[in-house]
Amino acid sequence: MRTAGTTRRFLTDPVPDALLHRILDNARFAPNGGNRQGWHVIVVKDKATRRALHDLYQPPWRAYLAERYGLGPGAVPGPDLPRALRRTMEFAERLHEVPVHLLVTVELSTLAVTDRDLGRQSIVGGGSVYPFVQNLLLGLRQEGLGAALTTLLIPAEPRVKELLGIPEEHALAALVAVGYPAGPLPTRLRRKAVEEFTTRDRFDGEPFGA
Ligand SMILES: Cc1cc2nc3c(=O)[nH]c(=O)nc-3n(C[C@H](O)[C@H](O)[C@H](O)COP(=O)(O)O)c2cc1C
Repeated sequence: MRTAGTTRRFLTDPVPDALLHRILDNARFAPNGGNRQGWHVIVVKDKATRRALHDLYQPPWRAYLAERYGLGPGAVPGPDLPRALRRTMEFAERLHEVPVHLLVTVELSTLAVTDRDLGRQSIVGGGSVYPFVQNLLLGLRQEGLGAALTTLLIPAEPRVKELLGIPEEHALAALVAVGYPAGPLPTRLRRKAVEEFTTRDRFDGEPFGA
């Protein structure tokens, strides 16, 4: 949990099916509403398909770059930009070179969406698929593989469905890019301390210390 960070630079070496199968075989024990297990994983290794997914990733990625960082379509990952952003730009440019794309979908009718009538953005449905995705990330890290959980492809869902034959009733939850890392795997992630997000008895209670 402390070291399963995002990898954005990969070797092109192939990843054995048996290894991916073992990781999936552990990840499937994720909690999910009513144990309906509505997830489906497409293991994409085919080169042309990865290229097509790369191409579909670009417009939402460009839109995100513009909105979040004010960078236009001609922006290049130059030394003037922060390192993490440069890495993310390079990753988007080279997504098709990452040897495995795990496309995770979920059958919408299996989701127990307990916050659907609250008149605000619903978040509970995702809770029946993202623990599974997190298990995948932990399993990949355990096996020495790098991974990047991405959701920027999701605005292109109709095209992705067409490309991969995903049925209408499934929604795209994530593209997890997987491969052997081009450098060392992360060892230190930057996250808030427990006391910054945990309180005692009430939301406005005192910070929860050990
Ligand atoms: C729901 C979700 C969606 C994400 N989508 C993307 C994405 O589309 N592209 C990307 O490069 N990284 C994506 N990330 C990775 C985050 O940028 C990353 O987890 C965060 O910056 C923390 O970095 P670290 O895991 O290396 O510490 C996503 C992460 C989550 C949890």
